[in-house]
Amino acid sequence: PKIIYLNEVDSTNNYAKKVSDSLNADFLVVSDMQTLGKGRLGRSWDSPSGSSIFMSLCIKPDIAIEKASIITLVMAVSLCEAIEEIYSIEPLIKWPNDIVFNSKKISGILTEMSSDMDGIKYIISGVGINVNNKDFPDNIKETASSLFLETGILMDRARLIASTVYHFYNNFNIFLKTEDMTDLKEKYEKHLANIGKEVKILDPKNKYTATALGIDESGALLVNTDGKIKRIISGEVSVRG
Ligand code: BTN
Repeated sequence: PKIIYLNEVDSTNNYAKKVSDSLNADFLVVSDMQTLGKGRLGRSWDSPSGSSIFMSLCIKPDIAIEKASIITLVMAVSLCEAIEEIYSIEPLIKWPNDIVFNSKKISGILTEMSSDMDGIKYIISGVGINVNNKDFPDNIKETASSLFLETGILMDRARLIASTVYHFYNNFNIFLKTEDMTDLKEKYEKHLANIGKEVKILDPKNKYTATALGIDESGALLVNTDGKIKRIISGEVSVRG
């Protein structure tokens, strides 16, 4: 895809949204830092200069609107593969889309979509990766880490960006065959940290614990609670564990 490099921006996702109308093909926005980095669930994303990757890939696939959220899972698998290839470590996915290593968060994905009567206008998959970071703010010190802190390897950020995008398109083409996770399920579950583990399901109406079994074709998390199998849909309930 076409690549737009910025030194500073509020958020690469916001920037991608603004320019998406004027660009027909897929494009990637990369920024050295962000002044208003956004995380999931309205949180902010720490975005210092010089050490992390902040990027947003904008795609315009002709798929059903309800399939858009699966792109997050496709990106999660791709991130694991890129990190594995470059650092020779095996990162894991906390469903649906946190990338963790040694139980610490290394990378996060924020996918945003816009649609109209004709279907999807764009899907923007925003990725933050802690690459060469040497420290973190106090409030996330316990839970966040960087690839450098975990491996001792300082990496050229461009290499990790290129590898992630390469793996993304590879997996995206697999996704397009069935427009779901059928052919990516095995790869995704291989990296799934939650599998076989207890998770807390924080349904607004109902909180309970369950054992994570894997995902289904739609990307929903399958859990076993008291012998009953439930499908957990991303965004509707939150999962801890
Ligand atoms: C999460 O909460 O785990 C998702 C974090 C996503 C952060 C990335 S950084 C690049 C892109 N621009 C943003 O403002 N957010 C995403």
